[in-house]
Amino acid sequence: MESAVRRIGVLTSGGDAPGMNAAIRAVARTCVHLGIECVGVRRGFNGLINGDAQVLNYYRVSGLTRLGGTMLYSARSEEFRTEAGIQRAVNTCKLLGLDGVVGIGGDGTFRGLHDLSRHGIAVIGIPGTIDNDIASSSYTIGYDTACNTAVECIDRLQDTMQSHERCSVVEVMGHRAGHLALYVGLACGATAVLIPEKPVNFEEDVIEPIRRARLAGRTHFMIIVAEGVGSSYEVAAKIKEATALDTRVTVLGHIQRGGAPSARDRVTATHMGYTATMLLAKGQTDRVVCLQNDEYVDYDINGALEMKKGIDEDKYTVMRTIIGQGR
Ligand code: F6P
Repeated sequence: MESAVRRIGVLTSGGDAPGMNAAIRAVARTCVHLGIECVGVRRGFNGLINGDAQVLNYYRVSGLTRLGGTMLYSARSEEFRTEAGIQRAVNTCKLLGLDGVVGIGGDGTFRGLHDLSRHGIAVIGIPGTIDNDIASSSYTIGYDTACNTAVECIDRLQDTMQSHERCSVVEVMGHRAGHLALYVGLACGATAVLIPEKPVNFEEDVIEPIRRARLAGRTHFMIIVAEGVGSSYEVAAKIKEATALDTRVTVLGHIQRGGAPSARDRVTATHMGYTATMLLAKGQTDRVVCLQNDEYVDYDINGALEMKKGIDEDKYTVMRTIIGQGR
C-alpha cells in the first residue's frame, strides 16, 4: 500500500492513562510495517512547539505494552492555546518533515489536533483517559485499569472499615463525569454512590441506605463519591452528623492513573494505534478513532467534540436497585 504520509509524529497529552504506551508502540510498529518513519514527540504539544522529538524505531518501543504512564511524557500546554504557539508547532512540523500527527488524550488533545489540521497537517486522535468521558467513544484507554485499581484499593479499605465498624467515604477521579465512580461503586458493593450527573437527596440517597444496611446487620459502610460531586470531606461530615458513625475519608487521587495496564487496555490501545496509523496512511485527517458496539470506527473531530455522553442509565438503575438508594 502506497502511504499518503512519509513521516509522522505521535504524542500524548493531558492526564496520562494506563495503555498510552501500548498505543505509542502500535503506532510505531504499524509505521514500520507501512514504511513510514515514526517520531515520538515528548511532553504533548509543548514538544511540537520546542521540537522535543526522537525517532521511534521497531526496537525503541519494545516491551512497552505492559508499562503504565507514557514514555513520551504528557503535559497540558498553555502556549499551544495561543495562535502563536500553534504557529510554532506548525513550523516544527515543517522543520522535522512531519506530515501527520497522532495524538493520544482527551477532548483538549483533539481540539489541539484540529488546530494543527487547519494548517495542513494530517491528524488523528485516539481517546486515552481514565475518565471514559469522551462522547464519541464508548471506551477510552485506561478506564478498565483505573476501575480495577480503585476496586482493589477499596477492597483493602473494606477490611479495616469492617474491623473498626466505620463508614468509609472514598473519592474517585473522573473529572466532571461519574462513569468511573458508578462502575467502581457497582463492583465493590457500595452502600451509596454519588455522581455529578444525578441530583442527590442526602437523606434518601445516603443516610437511609446506611440505616437499612445497619438494620440488616451491617456494621461498616462504603460511600463512593465522584470528584465532580464536590468535597468528600463535607459528605463525611454530614454522615457523621446524621448517624454518629465514625467516618474516614480516602481520596484515591493519582494512584488511579498508575500501574500496568489491564489486558483490555493493552488490546484496545494496540487496536486504536494501528487504526489511527492506517487512517493517516490512507490520506485521512481530522478524525478521532472510537470504539462503538465493539467496532473501531472514526469520526470527524469537530463532530466528535459536539457529541454528548450521558451516564449509563442501565447501570445506574441496577446500582440503585441493588443498593436500595432512593427507595
Ligand atoms: O482526566 C484525568 C484526570 O485524572 C481526572 O480524573 C482528574 O480530574 C484530572 O485528570 C487530574 O489532573 P491532574 O493530573 O492535572 O491533577
